[in-house]
Amino acid sequence: MTTGVQQLGYLGFEVSDTRAWESFATQVLGLGVSARQETGGFTLRMDGHAHRLFVEPGAADDLAFIGWEVADGAALHAAVERLRGARVDVAVGSAGDAARRHVHALVRFLDPSGIVNEIFHGPTMATEPFRSPVVASGFVADDVGLGHIAVAAVDQEAVRTFYCDVLGFRLSDRIVADIHGYHADMLFLHTNRRHHSFAFGARRDKNLFHFMLEVRSMDDVGLAFDRTLHSGLRIMHTLGRHPNDRMFSFYARTPSGFQFEVGCGGREVDDATWEPCVHDRISEWGHHPPGLLAPRKATPAAREGER
Ligand SMILES: [Fe+2]
Repeated sequence: MTTGVQQLGYLGFEVSDTRAWESFATQVLGLGVSARQETGGFTLRMDGHAHRLFVEPGAADDLAFIGWEVADGAALHAAVERLRGARVDVAVGSAGDAARRHVHALVRFLDPSGIVNEIFHGPTMATEPFRSPVVASGFVADDVGLGHIAVAAVDQEAVRTFYCDVLGFRLSDRIVADIHGYHADMLFLHTNRRHHSFAFGARRDKNLFHFMLEVRSMDDVGLAFDRTLHSGLRIMHTLGRHPNDRMFSFYARTPSGFQFEVGCGGREVDDATWEPCVHDRISEWGHHPPGLLAPRKATPAAREGER
C-alpha cells in the first residue's frame, strides 16, 4: 500500500530578489505569473494547474517547500495515517494555509533532511489552457507533475526509507560517479511514469541542487539555452544527455544560486517491467562545466611553438 502521491504538484522558493526572479521565470523559462501576493511574492503556471511555483521573498535563496498531490480527501487521510504510523509529526493545514496554496486541503511535515513537505489535494485549475509566449511546444507537466527536483540529503538511507517506504515512491535508479573531481552518489525516485520526480545526494550548501522543467521539443531546449545566455545567467552544465532518464538538457544558475535544468525527451517508467540499476556516469555526453572548456592560458613554451 502506498500513500498514493500522484505527482510533484508545486514547489516554493524563498528568494532574495523577486524582481530578478520574475523576469527569469517569465522571459527565460517562459512561465506565466498567475497570482501576486501582498508580500511581494507571486505564483507561476506552466500547464493546467494554476499555481505550480510559489516565489516568496526572503533571505534563504533556497527551496522553501515541496507540494505532493494526492487524488482526494481519502488519499490525504491515508497519507496522514501512514506518516503518523511512522512517527512523523504531521500538522494539518488551516483553511488559510490551503487558501495560500490555492488547494482544497493540505498537511505539512518535515522529511529526514528537515525539508518542508506538504501533501495536498484539490489544486486550483486554470480556466484557460496555458500558452507560453516563448516555449512554443509547451511543457510536459499536467498528470506527470511540474518536473523534478534534486535535493541534498542529510542521511541518504533515511531519506530513501522515508520517501519509498512511507510516502510510496519507487526507486528508478542510482548514479555513482566521479564528476570533475568530486564523488556523486544520487538516488532517483518516481511516483508516476516520469522517470523521476525526486532525486537526492549528499549534503551541500543549499537544500536544493536544481529543479527541472521539461519542454516538448529539442528546439525549445536550444531556445531556452539561448535565452539563458542572453539573460546573463551563468551556464553551469552545457547541453548533454543523462544515461538514466535520457533527458537532453542543460543547467544554469537561477538568480538564487541554486540551479535549474531545462530538458526534453525524458524517459518514462513502467513499474510492471522496470528494473532499477546503477549508472557509473552522470551524462552520456555533454553537461560540461563551461569553465573546463575555456582555452588554457598560453605558456611561454606554447607561445614559442606558435611562432
Ligand atoms: Fe535533473
